[in-house]
This record gives sequence, structure tokens and C-alpha cells, in this order.
Amino acid sequence: MEQIKEIRSIRKEQFDALYRISRLLNEATVQENLVEKALDLVVDAIRAERALFVRYRPGDEPFTIIAARNIQKETIKDLSAFSSGILQKVIEQQTPCLYHDVQSDPQISQFESVRIQNIKSVIGVPIFNQGQIWGVILADSRTHRQEFNEENLRFLEFFANMVSLALEKIIYLEDLQKENAALRHELDLSAPLPEIIGESPAMKKFSTLLRKVAQTDATVLITGESGTGKELAAKAIHLLSKRRDKAYLAQFCGSIPDTLLESELFGYKKGAFTGATADKKGLFEVADGGTFFLDEIADISMALQAKLLRVIQNQEIIPLGSTKVKKVNVRIVAATNKDLYQLVKEGKFREDLFYRLNVFPIHIPPLRDRLGDVALLANHFAKTFGGKQYRFDPAALKKLEQYSWPGNVRQLQNVIQRAIILSEDQRILPEHIILDDWESPEQFEGTLKDFEKLLLKRRLAKYGGNRTLTAQSLGVSVRWIQLKLKEMEGESQT
Ligand SMILES: Nc1ncnc2c1ncn2[C@@H]1O[C@H](COP(=O)(O)OP(=O)(O)O)[C@@H](O)[C@H]1O
Ligand SMILES: [Mg+2]
Repeated sequence: MEQIKEIRSIRKEQFDALYRISRLLNEATVQENLVEKALDLVVDAIRAERALFVRYRPGDEPFTIIAARNIQKETIKDLSAFSSGILQKVIEQQTPCLYHDVQSDPQISQFESVRIQNIKSVIGVPIFNQGQIWGVILADSRTHRQEFNEENLRFLEFFANMVSLALEKIIYLEDLQKENAALRHELDLSAPLPEIIGESPAMKKFSTLLRKVAQTDATVLITGESGTGKELAAKAIHLLSKRRDKAYLAQFCGSIPDTLLESELFGYKKGAFTGATADKKGLFEVADGGTFFLDEIADISMALQAKLLRVIQNQEIIPLGSTKVKKVNVRIVAATNKDLYQLVKEGKFREDLFYRLNVFPIHIPPLRDRLGDVALLANHFAKTFGGKQYRFDPAALKKLEQYSWPGNVRQLQNVIQRAIILSEDQRILPEHIILDDWESPEQFEGTLKDFEKLLLKRRLAKYGGNRTLTAQSLGVSVRWIQLKLKEMEGESQT
């Protein structure tokens, strides 16, 4: 009630200033010059000569200037022009102080600065934070200007109260931010990636890289054989990044007709082609603000490569049939199991795009190079598929750990899934582990034709689908390989 009566005693001009100050202090983000702006309003509102905002910390040098403004809206850096005696008095009395006609007040005029500066009246108001004096606001006027009155004192008191409230909020927020940053840093370094299993040195190195790059907006190129977890890694990058609350979209680029892929990625205008009966948003636009994963990037056509380059370079897209450029903000993660650099040398992949993608390459090693992770992964998959804990017979684990896993983690996942079906009493024995191809020719039980197919498939996988290299290594012609693949395609369709 007291406060309401007091606020009524404030003239409209000062009341307006209070309103503007409260808006300023309530802004969501803390601006560095926030206090200065507020002080300028104070100087104007009470027609002061200067206003000062000092931080108080008991000790040898108790006062530091946070902001000091004069009527010209200039910053004052030096405290010596102000009366430290008056600051001291406010601290001691812990209440707002108003001094009139200080030149004739023997108590105040003893302060040298008051005499030198020709100061007429001074107001000092304490600012509290959690019951303690945190700082002081001081305003003064010189002889040729007006004298402060009780109303000005009330005004400054309101101002100080508002600053105190804002201050508590700011300090609290800053503490939280610091704590948050510290926790995040700790997490970054040690915690394992969610759902990405692996404790081998190779995987540890991989997790560290992933966490580091996730904090940036850099384009990432993930390489590794099929089934090594490239897609999983791309998703992890998104979830660990500051874009985590925005969209994550993935597009598989292998064996998709060019025009279809283009319309998916970039969208189209109504009438761009027969069948385009309405505008369609491209996926890059849908993913705006988020992350876009381009899987099997090596398979896209040269024409699309050029368009993709534009997305990465200029962050813009042009929908099919449109002339208008649209701005998008997407973080690109791409993956391939091929040797992109080799494709560049063969003229099948744009060199400029390669360098744009290869900003931050991450290679995931094949499972055979981190066999130490096999047991961990096997237990993880058994638990996720089986819904309960399974026990691996030592011989069964040994069988898993001695295998070379051409299909990598995906193959291991399938093998475990099968083992669980075959197992009894939640025990997995060696005979439950069925490896769907052979390790040595003696173990192979199929026909010669099956063997031919299997060998071709594995060799193709080894050379990342490169038919020339596969043909060379098998001592056959590229044409022979093409024929065989056609044959196999026909078989799988019937
Ligand atoms: N380190 C890992 N921990 C757990 N699961 C994995 C790991 N690596 C791969 N996987 C699983 O193996 C399968 C194949 O992974 P994926 O990311 O599709 O491989 P790629 O894209 O390289 O072919 C997926 O089901 C994935 O969840
Ligand atoms: Mg994949």
C-alpha cells in the first residue's frame, strides 16, 4: 500500500521512464549495455547531471564501476570524479539518501570531490541481492541544474528495486548457464553415445570425433563399409547437436531415378511436369533448421551433384519448375561405402562437391578391425531382440569373435536374431550361431553356382561396388560381371 501511494506521487514523466526501464530489464537476453541504457533513462527522468552504478564488495577496493553515464550519454570510466564518501554513507545506512545543497552541508562538503565538481545535490540508493547490498546507484546534479527532491528519491528507489529483481534473475541465469556448460563438457568427454555400442579404441576415437563435430555446423562425410553404422552415426550427430529439437531427415540416394530424387529433395511447382498437380515442398525445405542425411551419396547423378553443391555452398534451393531461389538452413551429413576420391579421379563424382562434403570426414572401421566389440554388441542385440538377458556359451562367443563379418554390425545383428530363435533356456551355443556364408571353402556347403555368386558379391562389397576392380581381382571381364549381376537380379525377382 505504501508503495502504491508512493508511486502516485511520481510525475508522469518519471513514471513513463520507470515503465521503459522495466521493459528494458525484462528483456529475455542480457545485453551488455543494458545498465547503461537504463542509466540514460534515469539521467533524463530526474534531470541529473550524471548517474553511476557501482558494484560493492566489502574489502580493500570495495567499489567497481559497472556503468556511469553523464548527460551527454557518455561513459565515465573514473570513479574519482564522484564522492566515495557518499557511496560509503549509503552502504552504512543501507537506505536511500538524499542530500540537498551539499555545498553548504558541512557533513558532505568535507568531501573534496563534491567541492571540485561543484555538486549541488546527490541521491544515493542501495541495490540489494538476497538481502545483501550488491551495489549503489548514485545520481548528482550540479549547481546550475535543478535540485533533487523527495519525488526523485522515490523514483530512484523504484528503479533500484527493479534493478535488484532483474539482477537476481540475471545472476541466477548466468549461474545456471555456467553449470550447464560445465556439465555438458563433462558429458562430452566421457559418456558413451546413446545406442552406439563399442568400447574398442577405434570406437572410442570415433565417439570423441562424433561429439566434437556435433557441436558445429560443419558438413560431415561418414565413410565405412555397409553395415558399419553410418546411418546410426548420422542420427547421433543430429541428436548431439544444437539442432536436436529441429527436424532430422534422411534420404537414401542409391538406385532411385534421378527426377524422382530431385523432386523429393528440392520439391516442385504445380505444373512442373505432368502429374505435378500442386506445389510440393522439397525435403531440404522441410528439414529447414535441422539436419539432412544423404545416404549413399556416391550414387547421385552429375546433374544432381551440381544442385547439391548449391545447397551446401549457398544454402539455397530452386524447386523444379520454379525460378525463385529459396533460402534453407540445413546441416548436411552424407554417407558412402565407396571410395569417393577414387570416383572423383574416374570423373564420376564432382571434385568441388567432394571437397565440400569432405569438410569433416569420419571413417567407421569394419567390424573385423574391432573384434573386441563383438561380445558387447552380441549381448546388446540379444537383449534388445529377446527382451531379456541371454547367456553366451564361451565357445559361441569364440565363434563370433573369430569370424570376419563381411556384413559388419548389420550381419551380426541378423546372426544374433537367428541365434535367439534357435536357443533354449536363454543359452546361446555354438550351433545356434549360423554364419550365412563361409569363412573357408571347406565349410561351404552350397553348389558351385552358389559359390560363384557369393564370391562375386563379397568381392564387389570389398571394392565398394567398383566393377572394374572386382573384375581385375577375379580375373574376368567387366562384361562377365554385368551379365552375372543381371542373372542374379532376374533370380531374385522371380
Ligand atoms: N556400434 C553400434 N551399436 C549398436 N548398433 C549398431 C552399431 N553399429 C551399427 N549398428 C546397427 O547395425 C545396423 C546397421 O547400421 P547402419 O547404420 O544402417 O549401417 P550403414 O548405414 O553403415 O549400412 C543398424 O540396425 C544399426 O542400428
Ligand atoms: Mg546405410
